[in-house]
Amino acid sequence: MKVASVVGTRPQFVKAAALSPEIRRRAEEVLIHTGQHYDEEMSRVFFDALHIPEPNYDLGIGSGSHGEQTGRMLAAVEEILEKEKPDSVLVYGDTNSTLAGALAAAKLHIPVGHVEAGLRSHNRSMPEEINRIMVDHISTLLFAPTRIAVENLKREGVEKGVHLVGDVMYDLAMRFASSSKSRETLRAMGLESKGYLLTTVHRAGNTDDRNNLEAIVEALKECGRPVVFPIHPRTAKAIRVARISFQRSGGNVMRIKPVDYPTFISLLTGAEKVVTDSGGVQKEAYFFGIPCITLREETEWPETVEAGWNILVGARKRAILKAIREFEPKGKPAMAFGDGHAAERIAAIVVGG
Ligand code: UD1
Ligand code: UDP
Repeated sequence: MKVASVVGTRPQFVKAAALSPEIRRRAEEVLIHTGQHYDEEMSRVFFDALHIPEPNYDLGIGSGSHGEQTGRMLAAVEEILEKEKPDSVLVYGDTNSTLAGALAAAKLHIPVGHVEAGLRSHNRSMPEEINRIMVDHISTLLFAPTRIAVENLKREGVEKGVHLVGDVMYDLAMRFASSSKSRETLRAMGLESKGYLLTTVHRAGNTDDRNNLEAIVEALKECGRPVVFPIHPRTAKAIRVARISFQRSGGNVMRIKPVDYPTFISLLTGAEKVVTDSGGVQKEAYFFGIPCITLREETEWPETVEAGWNILVGARKRAILKAIREFEPKGKPAMAFGDGHAAERIAAIVVGG
């Protein structure tokens, strides 16, 4: 059996790192990298640090408007699928690479497996929400990470092919939970355990809105703690274009390039709190019991909020500062993301089915 997997962005490399070895134990895998993310620190470092097999095809599509980028990926993926004739195509998450991969396959009548099916933010102004809805409705196998994801699909009339399997990011995170790597990383960066915040920002709603971006940066500058900020290239560009300044911050915001996954997990597990608009990082904070302050008004991971470990503050400076000072979850996060064997389950279903 031949399975083609389509990846293209940072979170997809992370998810493929969990699933690809399980597919390869059972079938032939053709790995297609669309090239949506291409900077060394957004792509190559993940293949190296996570030992992801080299892509069989690197399409080099790069950046562009949604239509242009997705259209070019669609044409390029279609060409490969016609040549390789896989029995099944796997796509991950909710990016333009996910949509292009799923659409190319569905039009060629190749069954599509969607990893992270059923997530909804219920905010259709997010490009990711459109991608999720479209992909779920053309997939043959829908791998839901949570019960809520299964319910979301049911509400839209999608029940056939849905499998509640757990979360592949949880599978991977559990393998990188070593505190010795964390201690080493913190020492090298001059940080004290629980003595800093870790922040990431890249959501269009924050980077493309000057007021939002400025409010977030101002809150970080004023929070009175060291902040480690690995800056996504989209955000770095937006900060430059909007001429948002980190001056007068007393130097508390440590701006660095995006880091590889093991380094990021080390920074996460050592942090007092996480301040983010990332989908994956909200979840990872939950896995490790790190309080998460989410710079959005809604989330596709409501379990984390309901459990009391994630708070939605949008891009409101005062709300962000209040949460940084006062948000203190109690107890331990209840496990809602499976048992660490989601990837095995998915691979068995894809190859067996
Ligand atoms: C994409 C996904 C988003 C996901 C995120 C993960 C879509 C619509 N968005 O957002 O769902 O959460 O990846 O990080 O698919 N850029 C570089 N170098 C790179 C990549 C991007 O400089 O290697 C810059 C370019 O200026 C580009 C901008 O970032 O225009 C946005 O990149 P793009 O891939 O379109 O979207 P992301 O914001 O990364
Ligand atoms: N990540 C990383 N280095 C960083 C920032 C994030 O390795 O500098 C990892 C993080 O651990 C998570 C994934 O990237 O596994 C999340 O990607 P991102 O936030 O870009 O996308 P989203 O999950 O929001 O789609």
